[in-house]
Amino acid sequence: MLTSLGIEYKVNKGAAENPPVEVCAEMTEEVRAYAPDFLVAVGGGSSLDTAKAVDILLSHPGENPYEVFYNKNDAPHTTIYSEGRLPLIACPTTAGTGSEVTGYACLTRADTDTKLAVYQNVFCSLAFLDPRYIREAPKALLHTGVMDALCHSVESYVNVRSNVMNRAMGEVGMKMFATFKDNMLNDALTDEDYGNMLIASYFDGMSFYQSGTCLPHGMSYPLSHHKGVLHGLACAVFEGEYLKAFKNQTIVEPIVKLCGFETLDEFCDYMQKIVAADVHMECTREEVKNGHMILHKSKIVWSVTRNRLLLRKLKKFILPH
Ligand SMILES: [Fe+2]
Repeated sequence: MLTSLGIEYKVNKGAAENPPVEVCAEMTEEVRAYAPDFLVAVGGGSSLDTAKAVDILLSHPGENPYEVFYNKNDAPHTTIYSEGRLPLIACPTTAGTGSEVTGYACLTRADTDTKLAVYQNVFCSLAFLDPRYIREAPKALLHTGVMDALCHSVESYVNVRSNVMNRAMGEVGMKMFATFKDNMLNDALTDEDYGNMLIASYFDGMSFYQSGTCLPHGMSYPLSHHKGVLHGLACAVFEGEYLKAFKNQTIVEPIVKLCGFETLDEFCDYMQKIVAADVHMECTREEVKNGHMILHKSKIVWSVTRNRLLLRKLKKFILPH
């Protein structure tokens, strides 16, 4: 496409899953040497986030990337980053993170051994949502994307910071999910379903970017970071039980209906079926006992380990017996 338009380009395949800060810094130097007029990010959320990070670092030559991304004097996510940025075009090949529409770029920090969004809000200039990009994706990647997007809309819907606008956007995403959920479970997805997945992810991204996510996302990070469970599936492990434990069930009821289920138990069964098909991991009893070692770093997550219901669910999924 670019060639047919007479546009010279160079491909860099250095992006890694859960992009480490160091990888982004290395890629930035290669991109800087090529001096492009714009960037195109092709891939899943990690590729898009890598491109966002590179786009930020390009205007900070010679600076420590950790200080650029996580400056102690900057409040996280309070300003939109535009200084010296190149236009960034997103071509997502997964439908889940919503990175094409959010300002987040989540990177893996070697200094704290955690994954954290950079403090800047950094948006893509343009995004192509084309079902052809995701049609050939492996099933597990599709599943984790759909679960991630769904958890974004569900968690932003129940989030105390939610409002009528972001709930409305999440409702669109949940209604979209209802249209393809059965086909996804039965391996019978149509072209229309793939298109709806991308639209759902887009709306869910707008929804959670306004209000944030909740505990299932917080609890998912250790599973991904230490056990390699794909992000959306790691969130899905907790989503059903979180809704069951949620104190205000009048908020939960519309979620269940919007997603196309009659009861919350049906919702939970569906999530379990998707998780059971794709998540295969082992964890020692000692690791769970030291919940703060697995569910580390976050005080919120620490306190959740004291919630017996959720902890029981965690044990059920990650213990061999
Ligand atoms: Fe997510």
